[in-house]
Amino acid sequence: MHEQMPAGVMITEIVEETPSIRTFVFDRKIAARPGQFVMVWVPGVDEIPMGLSSPSSITVQKVGDATAALFAMHEGDRIGIRGPYGNGFSVSGRTLAIGGGVGASPLLPLVAAGQVDTFLLGARTASELLFTDRIRGAAALMIATDDGTAGHHGFVTELISRVDLADFDHICICGPEVMMAAVLAILDREGCTERGQFSINRYMKCGVGLCGSCCTDPHGLRVCRDGPVFSGDVLLDSEFGHYARDASGSRRRV
Ligand SMILES: Cc1cc2nc3c(=O)[nH]c(=O)nc-3n(C[C@H](O)[C@H](O)[C@H](O)COP(=O)(O)OP(=O)(O)OC[C@H]3O[C@@H](n4cnc5c(N)ncnc54)[C@H](O)[C@@H]3O)c2cc1C
Ligand code: FES
Repeated sequence: MHEQMPAGVMITEIVEETPSIRTFVFDRKIAARPGQFVMVWVPGVDEIPMGLSSPSSITVQKVGDATAALFAMHEGDRIGIRGPYGNGFSVSGRTLAIGGGVGASPLLPLVAAGQVDTFLLGARTASELLFTDRIRGAAALMIATDDGTAGHHGFVTELISRVDLADFDHICICGPEVMMAAVLAILDREGCTERGQFSINRYMKCGVGLCGSCCTDPHGLRVCRDGPVFSGDVLLDSEFGHYARDASGSRRRV
């Protein structure tokens, strides 16, 4: 697929994963590394970044106009896809994955490739837990829910004390930024930020490094081109965990 050209794909299957999250399977396989993303054109609405949950699917949480328009679509409808873009995760040896909410989605290809040894999975409530069966079949799974309806009653970050970080060569994280910032603080305390690989979200317009909308302070790193996966030591002393920029470029607290 040409890097800049959206390709029309047909939605072949829609899976209701949780009350707020659906997987859209399409009729084309995209050769991507785990953690890479695509720009999804929702006809007449917007073009938005989405991680790939498999070579031929995205897993989407409904939050605003474009995602709501996706949720209104049916099997047989067409969307546009361009990419894959970004660096993705890079692992070898033993890997710990930490996923919160829909953030488990870009981690799923790592699981499918047999590259995750232990997965810490969190969600607000039991019905919002993503991919539990698929993860359980491939990795040791530990669950946390904010309301205690499944697994540990509390935040997924509290499960980190139950594993030995020294056992893992890589720690791959994706989820809400407050949760990822809490993981970064733990890795910093344990002196192993360089083993953390954080998949971060920033507002994206072009997805290919041209518009600057996804640049992060203070280094000007572009999340679409230099990320979306960054090592923990790169994120220390950056805007990460403090603020991000919206569509107009204005700062908003995360
Ligand atoms: C590299 C990357 C991978 C992503 N992968 C996934 C994924 O696998 N599944 C998924 O559900 N979402 C993913 N997102 C987030 C997704 O792009 C946004 O949820 C989407 O753009 C919102 O579009 P909207 O028009 O529905 O909402 P909008 O109306 O644009 O916004 C609704 C709310 O979502 C927030 N939002 C808007 N854009 C983003 C953004 N880029 N990141 C985070 N929050 C945003 C806004 O602040 C607002 O509060 C990813 C984002 C990035 C940058
Ligand atoms: S989205 Fe345009 S530079 Fe990253």
